Amino acid sequence: MSNSAQIGVTGLAVMGRNLARNFARNGYTVALHNRTAARTHALVEDFGHEGDFVATETAKEFVEALERPRRLMIMVKAGEPTDAVIQEFAPLLEPGDMIIDGGNAHFEDTRRRERDLRGQGIHFVGTGVSGGEEGALNGPSIMPGGSKESYASLGPMLEKISAKAPDGSPCVTHCGPDGAGHFVKMVHNGIEYADMQLIGEAYQLLRDVAGYSPAQIADIFRTWNTGRLDSYLIEITAEVLSHVDAATGKPFVDVVQDRAEQKGTGRWTVQIALDLGVPVSGIAEAVFARSLSGHADLRAASRELVGPRAKPPGESEAAAFADRVEQALYASKIVSYTQGFHEISAGSDQYDWDIDLGAVSAIWRGGCIIRAAFLDRIRAAYDARPDLPSLLSDETFAQEIAAAQDDWREVLVAATRQGVPAPGFSAALAYYDALRADRLPAALTQGQRDFFGAHTYRRVDREGSFHTLWGGDRSEVEA
Ligand code: 6PG
Repeated sequence: MSNSAQIGVTGLAVMGRNLARNFARNGYTVALHNRTAARTHALVEDFGHEGDFVATETAKEFVEALERPRRLMIMVKAGEPTDAVIQEFAPLLEPGDMIIDGGNAHFEDTRRRERDLRGQGIHFVGTGVSGGEEGALNGPSIMPGGSKESYASLGPMLEKISAKAPDGSPCVTHCGPDGAGHFVKMVHNGIEYADMQLIGEAYQLLRDVAGYSPAQIADIFRTWNTGRLDSYLIEITAEVLSHVDAATGKPFVDVVQDRAEQKGTGRWTVQIALDLGVPVSGIAEAVFARSLSGHADLRAASRELVGPRAKPPGESEAAAFADRVEQALYASKIVSYTQGFHEISAGSDQYDWDIDLGAVSAIWRGGCIIRAAFLDRIRAAYDARPDLPSLLSDETFAQEIAAAQDDWREVLVAATRQGVPAPGFSAALAYYDALRADRLPAALTQGQRDFFGAHTYRRVDREGSFHTLWGGDRSEVEA
């Protein structure tokens, strides 16, 4: 076996297969390996004409097919299967070689694996890959972590196979050491959940409050996609909404069960945010909305609960309402991204990753599921001020939200009156109002905590911690 392959891919299900083809189409020799060799041979048979592949059957053959330092990419299920593959290959590798995990791994697992393999001199690169099967083949957005040294060797190859942003720059950046790449990918997915939830709420409001049909709503989304909401998710929403079920002739959305599933990356985003103390309420509502949709029995048992008797607006009001929904969607979207970037920044501080938020927004402009014209503006905001405390502190975004807020509030009034749930819009507005509030009821919370547990509080006018003798004469003592 000649050791000529610049990269090897093991795990040739759809994502692995398409990434392998993408490397080969870009001129790299790609070694292939899969637990069942039939899949390896099928790939060569079907796509061998696209580039140079080296089909291998055993782990030893696979490793020997790679040039040094070896770049071995694993594309298997996250969790135990990933550990099993690492255990199989690591003993066959030498110092300086690298293992690249392109699955949706939890960043804590990536940190552990990186630490374990570092002892053997092996670079472990946990990398986010976004864009689904289509992206894997034609150019994904890639979010690698790992050592700087590994990026020097692997980065140029990733840049070649990645999506290109509208200005031509590759959608890949070295996010930071160990788990930084998988952390960034996790938050990408959390934002993806929030984006999808907000779009879902907009759809339901247009349907249940304004009375539009799915086909009409598809047209509204198409129009929005030519403006500031221009994004992949808005584009595919129009496609899904205009699709008609061949079997029944009904709108496709009406024949699909309304129970959203999840593989878990959105949930991780919220779990980690809780640990880091970062309020990602919009993302959390998106995760909870999926969970609620799945509780079929609970929903069935609650269907008779009384709702409002408000009437939907007439035709003439519907168009104006749709414009307001666009404002609410855009403003809520700004809040979701604000929360997601806050989480990345907090993770970066916690784990010493030094993640460049501007670079992250730049690589999300192409290839990934949340790609959107809007990300160019986020990048501009961070370029202008890398220490921006929050996206809402950016003057342009602040002005846009100020212009949208009346409509945003009106949409929520209508949603509430008609009894249409809009937890994403509502959480986003509450976050916005809470951040700009002069005083929050947290002062009362502190008083209650001090009352029942002597947990102490701080005063607005003096340094130090204080406790009031609630059960006694209510005098104040310094704690
Ligand atoms: C991507 C997607 C991809 C995937 C997730 C989300 O960036 O290409 O985010 O990773 O679709 O698995 O799936 P769930 O909705 O099932 O959590």
